[in-house]
Amino acid sequence: MRAHEAGALHAEGYRGPAWLSTPSDVNALAPSLWAGSVGRGGDGVLTVGGVSATELAREHGTPAYVIDEDDFRTRAKAFRLAYGAAFGGLAGADVYYAGKAFLCTEIVRWIDADGLRLDVCTGGELAVAQRAGLPGERIGMHGNNKSVAEIRAALEYGVGRIVIDSFEEIERVSRVAAELGIVAPVLVRVTVGVEAHTHEFIATAHEDQKFGLSLAGGQAFEAARRITARPQTLRLLGLHSHIGSQIFDVAGFEVSARRVLGLHARVTTELGVELPELDLGGGFGISYTTEHDPLTPELLAAGMAEIVERECRAGAMAIPRISIEPGRAIAGPSTLTLYEVGTVKTVDLDGGASRFYVSVDGGMSDNVRTALYAANYSCTVAGRLSAAAPVLARVVGKHCESGDIVVMDEFLPSDVAPGDLIAVPATGAYCRSLSSQYNHTPRPPVVAVREGGSRIIVRRETIEDILALDV
Ligand SMILES: Cc1ncc(COP(=O)(O)O)c(C=O)c1O
Repeated sequence: MRAHEAGALHAEGYRGPAWLSTPSDVNALAPSLWAGSVGRGGDGVLTVGGVSATELAREHGTPAYVIDEDDFRTRAKAFRLAYGAAFGGLAGADVYYAGKAFLCTEIVRWIDADGLRLDVCTGGELAVAQRAGLPGERIGMHGNNKSVAEIRAALEYGVGRIVIDSFEEIERVSRVAAELGIVAPVLVRVTVGVEAHTHEFIATAHEDQKFGLSLAGGQAFEAARRITARPQTLRLLGLHSHIGSQIFDVAGFEVSARRVLGLHARVTTELGVELPELDLGGGFGISYTTEHDPLTPELLAAGMAEIVERECRAGAMAIPRISIEPGRAIAGPSTLTLYEVGTVKTVDLDGGASRFYVSVDGGMSDNVRTALYAANYSCTVAGRLSAAAPVLARVVGKHCESGDIVVMDEFLPSDVAPGDLIAVPATGAYCRSLSSQYNHTPRPPVVAVREGGSRIIVRRETIEDILALDV
């Protein structure tokens, strides 16, 4: 059981987590946390894409997700270029943007124009890609429980790969392919016994989780055998492994690549099939706060290329074409959420301590990551500069849950007041896509900014939208 969400920190003299220090200038923006175009104008107001936060709030209301188009696209292209360069002398590489991080048709158009591919994991995400006109062969479909209807929709659209996640799915995909008279290109998702999160990874013999087929238990090899036994309906392109999220070093990929390439070699020799591809998944970390220090795409790509080349040479096997699936590392840093402060409150705690609560007009409905994973975020007062002293604050939402926390700990100016704008960086991944209508709260819009202009790419929901579902 989890403790009361705020309870564990209700201690006297609490100064926030170790990585958070009192800022000498409470208005300063740590560049690593914000999209490339974010700064403060001459009047001190935060600007993004050349548009001021006050103007964005006036025109689009709050809360609003504000995405810096150039930042998103620069990161997407950086992955494509870095992996293209690192694997260029080998068998090449493809970058699949993981649409689960954040997806809408405009995002699909960007990744299409910038030469990426797309990883979808439901029929809904596939429908977005279709609406945007992304060619089927540039789409990979994931999911641990794809329905027959989803598999049919994917195969009818001609997706380039379906990632098989269970024995049942082999039968299902094979049956649908037979009905359609096609050979379905598939990968097998392998659990390699490596679990990587944040700064550490662990390598275990077996994993207790729902995704993939176990390497150690033999199910992954058996899946490959069953697939290659159905050449009329299935074509095994290769293996897939995704080891976690918020990964900051290549050590976990090294172990997983070695293990999955071992299976790759076994499939090649024992089943007599060449596997032209290998997918090493996503999970590359980003800076939510100053505690994080992500690797660049160049360093990641170079590290992975070295591992793949070394393992393939050692096993005397042909080097497969590599794919990766970054979501967060492309979408996350591109976006900030703009809120308006509604109330502020100092709450007395035991032992004479107190906590400064700042309530904003959104919360866990637009960013559930703090409540779901105890994620840390940063924030700043966006609409003005302040000369007031920094005070450790907790930014909370407007929902009926004490765990409705947006930013656990951040220093804000002590004069923060109702009507102030608050900007939270790095909300581009798993915020809009995990959003809800909790408390019948309409979801915020997604506003794209670039070169001094803003435009809505996902409109704000209305109460009418919500009521329209209520029959
Ligand atoms: C199979 C797979 N690929 C890619 C991703 C994207 O991960 P991230 O957004 O951390 O890069 C995920 C995330 O859950 C995943 O499950």
